[in-house]
Amino acid sequence: MDRDHPQAALGVIGAGYVGLVTGVCFAHLGFDVVCMDLDQSKIDRLRRGVIPIYEPGLDELLARVRERLLFTTSYDELLDCCAIVFVAVDTPPSPAGDADLSRVERVVREVAARGGERLLVMKSTVPVGTGDRVMAQIKALGATSIGYVSNPEFLREGAAIDDVRHPDRVVVGAYEEAAGDRVAALYASLEAPIVRTTVPTAEMIKYASNAFLATKISFINEIANVCDEVGADVRTVAEGMGLDRRIGSHFLQAGIGYGGSCFPKDVQALKQLAGNSGYHFQLLNAVIEVNALQKRRLVGQLKKRLGTLRDVRVTLLGLTFKPHTDDLREASSIVLAARLRAEGATVAAYDPTILAGDDVHFPGVRIAGSALEALEGADAAVLVTEWPQFSEFDWAAGRQAMRGSVVLDGRNFLDGDAVRAAGLSYDGIGIGGTVSGPDEPPA
Ligand code: UGA
Repeated sequence: MDRDHPQAALGVIGAGYVGLVTGVCFAHLGFDVVCMDLDQSKIDRLRRGVIPIYEPGLDELLARVRERLLFTTSYDELLDCCAIVFVAVDTPPSPAGDADLSRVERVVREVAARGGERLLVMKSTVPVGTGDRVMAQIKALGATSIGYVSNPEFLREGAAIDDVRHPDRVVVGAYEEAAGDRVAALYASLEAPIVRTTVPTAEMIKYASNAFLATKISFINEIANVCDEVGADVRTVAEGMGLDRRIGSHFLQAGIGYGGSCFPKDVQALKQLAGNSGYHFQLLNAVIEVNALQKRRLVGQLKKRLGTLRDVRVTLLGLTFKPHTDDLREASSIVLAARLRAEGATVAAYDPTILAGDDVHFPGVRIAGSALEALEGADAAVLVTEWPQFSEFDWAAGRQAMRGSVVLDGRNFLDGDAVRAAGLSYDGIGIGGTVSGPDEPPA
């Protein structure tokens, strides 16, 4: 820490995904950073250089910038060094369906109690209106020297460092011009467009962005379902659509639906927010419903192939909500495994980041140590998460290990020809032709 400029370091409260990546990346930009979390064991691990989450490249980057980072569980230690404090605490869904802001409120109380001039910069995803609420809390606490800026985060798990270091845009919503200037200045070296706006607008940009991306996914999934009916191939449809720059090629990958800690929560929260303000957000209802139905549809596809799921052995390849993460939050695999078991199937699975025996989310599911081991005796294989290593899987060996011959690609990721060449059947999501019945030979 720079002892000559005692308040010059950046503070980050909450060493979860967003907080940790933000802290490490700001340290990489040359700032001194104090990262605080109430979880002592997490802070102990970070002090030893151990990253508590799975994020490619984060451990190496931490090692490179280690001397500019201080990890603590103490508000006092953080506030001794920092005038600008990023807030990156959890905002989980409340029982009423909106975001639970109790952790944010606690941060405000703790910071206010210690006095001094501070700028709180909100990184956590919070409902529109949170800034106003925090300002009211600050006023009620008499802590008028605390300022507030909304600076939502757009990083994706698995690509977080790149997203923070090369953002498409930086959004800064402020009540006072000078406070916005201070936050915008932190990003000056990134050469990203900076959107300067009000606090509620910044808050809405975050929700609208996630809801729009989720809408794109549900849209392409419905197109895929129609493709199945009419014999079209959604992969080429998406390519043809995506080349239109007004549409763009991203987030048009059809599959078994979106998961993770953000889209399901944020789409629901925006719907709730609209409802609470008297507006019925019709489109989001459909986005949510399509996403739920997409998993059921895959179960239906399997039934068509196999006739029944009773006493059938199904292997799930990949469990995490997407590749390059060990995150199982709202992962499609959880619903899928439960549905298959409810239909009477025996389920095995393999995921490179989920250890054998780790069956907290998957009761009754055999978690194997390799894809081949998971496929032992299987009637059907379902690709759930597009981990790169599955694209190189030896399907001839897979065929040997399996009892049956059905392969269902829930992400349109595998090389269908290679799968068929091994003597297996291959179906994807909306890649042409209605799924054939159980007696039909593989294409
Ligand atoms: C998402 C956003 O992409 C980030 O910009 C945002 O900052 C973050 O939420 C957040 O609010 O914190 P993330 O949840 O890490 O990031 O993951 P994504 O890469 O967006 O994927 C979300 C889900 O959509 C995954 O289950 C993925 O498999 C699925 N998806 C994505 C598709 O089914 N099709 C696609 O074409 C793209």
